[in-house]
Amino acid sequence: MKVLVTGGAGFIGSHIVDTLLQSGLQVSILDNLSTGSLGNINPRAVFLKKDIRDEDLKDLLAKERFDYVVHQAAQTTVANSLADPYHDCDVNIRGLVNLLEASRLAGVKRIVFASSAAVYGDTDSLPIREDCGKQPASFYGASKLAGEHYLNLYYKNFGLEYVALRYANVYGERQGDGSEGGVISIFCNKLLAGERLTVFGDGSQTRDYIYVKDVAAANYQALFSQAANRSYNVGTAAETSVHELIELLARVAGQRPAVAHGAQRSNDIRRSVLANRAASDSLRWQPAYTLTEGLYLMLRDLKRRMPA
Ligand SMILES: NC(=O)c1ccc[n+]([C@@H]2O[C@H](COP(=O)([O-])OP(=O)(O)OC[C@H]3O[C@@H](n4cnc5c(N)ncnc54)[C@H](O)[C@@H]3O)[C@@H](O)[C@H]2O)c1
Repeated sequence: MKVLVTGGAGFIGSHIVDTLLQSGLQVSILDNLSTGSLGNINPRAVFLKKDIRDEDLKDLLAKERFDYVVHQAAQTTVANSLADPYHDCDVNIRGLVNLLEASRLAGVKRIVFASSAAVYGDTDSLPIREDCGKQPASFYGASKLAGEHYLNLYYKNFGLEYVALRYANVYGERQGDGSEGGVISIFCNKLLAGERLTVFGDGSQTRDYIYVKDVAAANYQALFSQAANRSYNVGTAAETSVHELIELLARVAGQRPAVAHGAQRSNDIRRSVLANRAASDSLRWQPAYTLTEGLYLMLRDLKRRMPA
């Protein structure tokens, strides 16, 4: 079976590629390398340097006859979406529609889409369930929510199956400092460099941190599940404050970092945690890694990469 992974040279996409290859699937990566890197690419995958917005995308998909598409390529940050809404819309909406058109014309069976907890915005009903109200607080959240609507309409109108996965804050090996889940990556790098960690606000704000290999496993389950054509949260259902995160990091690293406090950032959501019952019941997926295990693996990898 042939699978195309867009954004497969990026942080999450590259782990998905590894998981799919381990399962014996034939994998191609489509990536423009805008934030991804060649070093992330599994040599057993075919690499196509291309933009999801390219006009001739449909010719490529018609020729390659992929069975499935896993769509990770995106403009991925809230801050950039606010600074340049046109670019966010161009990549996350126009790029998605270009991929959907190419996919339906080529007879792709199913597309799995990287959505985000950002579709919910700030909400008081925690943990957030999939049917909660959606009030995106950024153009990024709005473009992901629009993407889900497009997927649903491509299914209803053309029968192209889909699963949208709303990721919580993802962390793990190969993570850059810029993505949504970047705080763990930033803290780990600073801790190992002996630098001070900066906490914005009082440190009581919470997030749901999900390890990247768990996210890759959710994508695999979504490809073959009977329970398609809807959106699922992909999180741990556990809330961790920035203070708790620093405590845990210090314990795992055996090293206590110095901490400085900065002003609370505007648009910073106070609390965020995703319910994961639907994914557990319908996709037969549950997170396998605790935050302690994930932090240990991430720190170990960063240490290995440090110049001697
Ligand atoms: N990291 C998180 O915590 C998080 C949380 C929620 C959702 N997501 C979503 O998960 C997906 C993967 O994010 P990530 O953190 O791995 O980011 P990333 O920047 O590491 O990966 C994105 C990849 O897409 C590629 N890309 C970007 N624009 C492209 C285009 N126009 N054409 C082709 N390739 C393009 C980049 O080169 C990169 O390799 C994204 O859709 C993101 O919105 C991430």
